[in-house]
Amino acid sequence: MQAGTNNESSEAEQTLTDRQGHPITDNQNVRTVGSRGPTTLENYHFLEKISHFDRERIPERVVHARGSGAHGYFEAYGKVGDEPVSKYTRAKLFQETGKRTPVFVRFSTVIGGGESPETLRDPRGFAVKFYAEDGNWDLVGNNLKIFFIRDPLKFPDMVHSFKPDPVSKLPDPERMFDFLSRTPESTHMVTFLFSPWGIPANYRQMQGSGVNTYKWVNRDGEAVLVKYHWEPLKQGIKNLLQQEADEIQKTNYNHATQDLYQAIERGDYPEWELCVQIMSDGEHPELDYDPLDPTKLWDPEQFPFLPVGKMVLNRNPENYFAEVEQAAFGTGVLVDGLDFSDDKLLQGRTFSYSDTQRYRVGTNYLQLPINAPKTKVATNQRGGQMEYQVDLNPGTNPHVDYEPSTLNGLKEAAKPGKDHEPQYDAKLVRQKIERTNDFAQAGRTFRAFDEVEQNELISNLVNNLKICSPFIQETWIGHFTQADAEYGRRVKEGLEAAKRVTSSAPEHTSTADADEALDKAQKMG
Ligand code: HEM
Repeated sequence: MQAGTNNESSEAEQTLTDRQGHPITDNQNVRTVGSRGPTTLENYHFLEKISHFDRERIPERVVHARGSGAHGYFEAYGKVGDEPVSKYTRAKLFQETGKRTPVFVRFSTVIGGGESPETLRDPRGFAVKFYAEDGNWDLVGNNLKIFFIRDPLKFPDMVHSFKPDPVSKLPDPERMFDFLSRTPESTHMVTFLFSPWGIPANYRQMQGSGVNTYKWVNRDGEAVLVKYHWEPLKQGIKNLLQQEADEIQKTNYNHATQDLYQAIERGDYPEWELCVQIMSDGEHPELDYDPLDPTKLWDPEQFPFLPVGKMVLNRNPENYFAEVEQAAFGTGVLVDGLDFSDDKLLQGRTFSYSDTQRYRVGTNYLQLPINAPKTKVATNQRGGQMEYQVDLNPGTNPHVDYEPSTLNGLKEAAKPGKDHEPQYDAKLVRQKIERTNDFAQAGRTFRAFDEVEQNELISNLVNNLKICSPFIQETWIGHFTQADAEYGRRVKEGLEAAKRVTSSAPEHTSTADADEALDKAQKMG
């Protein structure tokens, strides 16, 4: 039986009220002059009800609008691989074996709107908020381990090219392939995205990754570079072929939300292990890529995945809007012992998240229960729309909302360890990194795919590229060929076959027949 319909609930608990607490005695009829109207303007209950309804939506996230979330906990192993974690980081949440930190996770697709199908080919967001004892830590990642671009200045153009045409509102892959063709560092991400890895079967059976390079800092202020990865435990990894995704989408736009929600309801709690890859802090000229380049994988043979803890999701949200829609994650939200690297994309992201959240949710978005840390907040920041905490700084002189003060205001905390102080001696420039190496890893990834993954990749690429201009097609064949000669050849031959099928198709040939012929031609590659 649903809460609220329980016979044992007291009458008072079940009484409908307005938001001022007034009991509502008639929720069916507006107040009118006679039964046929007109209505009168002092209908307080009606005006409140309808004007609140008019404001039920907040702006969607500009990206990652479609998502679902769950609560759970993170349990630390106290070690990183076989070593004590304190050797690398002083972050409190990792230190003690078995220490649990509550978490909230939001999974998402990126490009579609709030109600879009969850079957679309798209990276998946994997954002985790750790409510740690010394404040919140957000690890805002994706399912794939790399990204399309490495410079944050390109992000708005990239997103525009992925979104539907601004005039017709129709999705148009030519826009995306056009932009990305001028952005060759995306070749590796495109290789993952158009393979089955671009459609995870659901949110439980996918990996997660911080993608950007961060730092860990120990008690002596010494830093290492780290990358974070979430590996699904008992539930494993599963991806979909395009045809499987199309089948699901025929009847279900919500399969991933449904899968997560129902698994947690039946007590089948998904789990992930958090692993880190560690590299000494520095430029690493011996590598053929820059360790700060988010379009690159760190070779796991050289930089193994070291487990540091596991996460269990065991509780569904009670109010989707309050918890999932208003959740606000950001890459700037770190705890002591975790730090930024000089990864430019990471630094650009760090401005963007809290900026958009002040607009999307409101100035005081950090006072909402889902976003507020579970530790004490004591700040001299004041006011703004919807501030509601009456006594922000209990125990201190309430008139002193500034620092420093001799009148018993808030005081700075003691330093938990030595500061990490990177040193810089360089010109201020606008330049690409030196080791761009845009294609080698894309080729390695193509060769690492099994036959099904390769076939699917070629078929998905050809199906999207065949509607693009010949110039864009040629550019992509060039990129894929630089990655791997066979990769380029197969896309080229697939596009030639597509052209033959289109030009020779009799008028009555259905699209399905044409697609089937094309598919055969591609697999023959
Ligand atoms: C959401 C910006 C790259 C993962 C967002 C949002 C913005 C944004 C504005 C909406 C946030 C909100 O409304 O609360 C950027 C910029 C990027 C970038 C400027 C690059 C310069 C990335 C990368 C990843 C990523 C590389 C993955 C590692 C996410 C996730 C969300 C998100 C998971 C959804 C968070 C949630 O569930 O609320 N991003 N992003 N973004 N971004 Fe990024």
